[in-house]
Amino acid sequence: MSLENKKTLEAYQKTASQYLLNSVEHNELDMAKAERKKAKLEDFIKRSFSTIPAGSKVLEIGSADGENAKYLESLGYKVTASDVADDFIEAIKANGLEPIKFNVIEDKFLEKYFGIFCWRVFVHFTKEDALTVIRKTYDALEKDGIFIFNAINRETRSVDEEWVDFPGEYHMGIDRYYNYFNQADLDAMIAQTGYEIVDFHKEGGDENNKWLVYVLKK
Ligand SMILES: C[S@@+](CC[C@H](N)C(=O)[O-])C[C@H]1O[C@@H](n2cnc3c(N)ncnc32)[C@H](O)[C@@H]1O
Repeated sequence: MSLENKKTLEAYQKTASQYLLNSVEHNELDMAKAERKKAKLEDFIKRSFSTIPAGSKVLEIGSADGENAKYLESLGYKVTASDVADDFIEAIKANGLEPIKFNVIEDKFLEKYFGIFCWRVFVHFTKEDALTVIRKTYDALEKDGIFIFNAINRETRSVDEEWVDFPGEYHMGIDRYYNYFNQADLDAMIAQTGYEIVDFHKEGGDENNKWLVYVLKK
């Protein structure tokens, strides 16, 4: 596990409850936009996992408040939500789920899944962390299983990576590490596994290219 990810998780351990409050406040700035984004994400999740039968085991990595895990559960999957920071674990429980404490880089997967969802988590990974996670998720999926993840697109930023304590609404007083990925680098990592890319697109930001979004099949 990289020092960058380790220190970022230490920051979340101290600030997770503040992070959750900030997220709520951020959504309240424009409720209609927040609802549109949520509906778009849920539609994407549903379509991307459509080959996975209801009742199958699905894991979410880095669930934070558990909202996406809750949606996955509403689709009929047997969902395991997970995170690392204690206050995230408590928030997920408050959302009616039974989370596990799981560091995807450090910890062994104890079960196999038909689907793995990892949203806005690669932002805190070095390239080495990302390759580790792509390999580990491949091993942890059943045949034909689906792995969904996204990463921030390097082509929209003038730096490869940085430590950020967002000065605006996400200010928490402690820096977190953010990494911006090249599509070609991620493609090369994926090619080192048996994954097939079944969907790829860019989305978000002013030019609809802030995020690189991958749906991979084992
Ligand atoms: C920007 S938040 C995104 C939370 C949520 N997935 C969402 O989209 O709202 C990043 C999340 O990644 C988690 N995270 C970072 N490194 C991790 C690791 N090594 N293992 C598991 N989760 C990690 C953090 O704890 C945090 O919940």
